Amino acid sequence: MRTVKALFALVLAVWALATVYVFYWFRERYGRGGPIPASQAGVLLHPLRPWIHPVRETVEKFGLKPGDTALELGPGPGYFTAEAARVVGPEGRVVCLDLQPEMIAMLRERLDEQVIANAHPAVSDATKLPLADRSVDAAFLVTVLGEIPDRPAALAELRRVLKPGGVLSFSENLADPDYQFQASLRDLCRASGFEVLGHSRQPLGYTMCFTAS
Ligand SMILES: C[S@@+](CC[C@H](N)C(=O)[O-])C[C@H]1O[C@@H](n2cnc3c(N)ncnc32)[C@H](O)[C@@H]1O
Repeated sequence: MRTVKALFALVLAVWALATVYVFYWFRERYGRGGPIPASQAGVLLHPLRPWIHPVRETVEKFGLKPGDTALELGPGPGYFTAEAARVVGPEGRVVCLDLQPEMIAMLRERLDEQVIANAHPAVSDATKLPLADRSVDAAFLVTVLGEIPDRPAALAELRRVLKPGGVLSFSENLADPDYQFQASLRDLCRASGFEVLGHSRQPLGYTMCFTAS
C-alpha cells in the first residue's frame, strides 16, 4: 500500500511539474518575447539538461576541428563552451558573443573556475558582429536563433564572418520556448545563401548544419 501511495505521489508531482512547465513554455513563446533573462540562466545549466541536450554529442556535430577559430553566438552561461574549447584545443579559440552583459559575466566566471584560456567572451549583438570578414572557421548557435528579432540580419552577419566552406550549425530543443522548426530554419538559411550540410535528431530536438552556397 505504501508503495502504491509513493508511486501515486510521484506521478502527481511529475504531472504538476509538467503542467507548470507547459504553462511557462506557452507564456514565454507567445507572451514576453526577447532573450531569456540572465536571472533564469540556472535553467540552462540544470542537472537534467544533459538528458535532452547532451553536450558532447551535440558539439561533435558542429564540425569543429583542432586549431579552428569558432564562433559561439549566444553562449549564455556557457553550457556548451567548455566542450567546444576542448575540441578546438590550445591552438584554436572559441569567440563567445552574447547580447547580455550578465550572461557574459557568468560565462567568464565559469571559464575562470574551469581554467579555460582559449574561450573569449564579449558582449555583442548578433546583427553587428565585431569580427572581420571571413575570419571564422565554424559558428554555432544553440537555442538562440528564436530570440533574435532580425534573423535575416544575423544570418547575413554570420555569412560575412564565416570563411568559405565554413560550417554554420544550429541546435534546437523543444523545451526551449523559442524553438525553431526545421522547415523554417532551412528556408531562412537558404534565403540567406546557405545550403544544408547535414541534419541529425536528438532527444526532443535536432542539430542542422549549413555551409555558404
Ligand atoms: C536560450 S539562451 C541559450 C544559451 C546557450 N546557447 C545554451 O544553449 O545554453 C539564448 C542566449 O542567446 C542570447 N541572445 C539572444 N539574442 C541575442 C542577440 N541578438 N545577439 C547575441 N546574443 C543573443 C541570450 O542573451 C541568451 O544568452
